[in-house]
Amino acid sequence: MRTPSELMKPSSKLPRHLAVIMDGNGRWARQRFLPRVAGHRAGVDALHKIVKHAMKRGIEILTLFAFSSENWRRPSYEVSYLLDLFLNMLENETQKLHEQGIQLRIIGDCSQFNEKLQAQMAQAQDFTSRNKGLKLVIAANYGGQWDLTQAMRKIGEELERGTLSSANISAELINARLSLGDLPPPDLFIRTSGEQRISNFLLWDLAYTELYFTEVLWPDFNEVELDKALVFFSGRERRFGCTSEQLEESSYA
Ligand code: IPE
Ligand code: IPE
Ligand code: MG
Repeated sequence: MRTPSELMKPSSKLPRHLAVIMDGNGRWARQRFLPRVAGHRAGVDALHKIVKHAMKRGIEILTLFAFSSENWRRPSYEVSYLLDLFLNMLENETQKLHEQGIQLRIIGDCSQFNEKLQAQMAQAQDFTSRNKGLKLVIAANYGGQWDLTQAMRKIGEELERGTLSSANISAELINARLSLGDLPPPDLFIRTSGEQRISNFLLWDLAYTELYFTEVLWPDFNEVELDKALVFFSGRERRFGCTSEQLEESSYA
């Protein structure tokens, strides 16, 4: 258990880990009498801006929700478009990510994607795996419930093999088996487009994350909007169950 003084690090005014639900592409397109997929195309430009600006601001980990385990329910044309967009980005931009020192990680049930996309995902992750700059995590066919389920399955297998006993199951042990188990949890969560829900994103990992919601639609989200969210974050007092007084005392200690 971390002590109040450990929780009050000077650097805690800037999120180390930022998680974003990039929402509102369809509405952005509809406002312009364009097909929904034009919104996804415009969303890619916003994504570039935000990756660059997050690096400029010194964020260490950026986790982006690109495609949820529920998004398969959309019209097949839209699903195909999104997957093609993903494939094209991996094909065309892995080298650029590498040159910027970005380490790419993809979380989610990739087994549901076609072989070509799976191969490209594996190649891009491998190619950038030794980079020391921004950790860019893309959640694709990701669901928080899926993540917890696969962690539970691993634990079940360990119990069956006899390498784990139920008395040793702890929050730390579960955490270590989740997709982001080796990383600090998100400090700040942003959802664009006015929706105020988690939509099966990082259910476990968001336990103590500061939540920021903005009406801005994802294709309009830019450097200024990200800075607004960072200012919001810098004004929060993160108590992690402690009292304000404890945190103040420990910051003078
Ligand atoms: C987010 O925008 C992108 C994905 C889910 C892939 P939406 O497509 O959900 O946009 P809205 O919510 O319909 O406006
Ligand atoms: C969440 O957005 C998923 C992504 C942004 C990838 P949705 O637009 O799919 O969420 P709901 O359906 O409105 O909750
Ligand atoms: Mg949406």
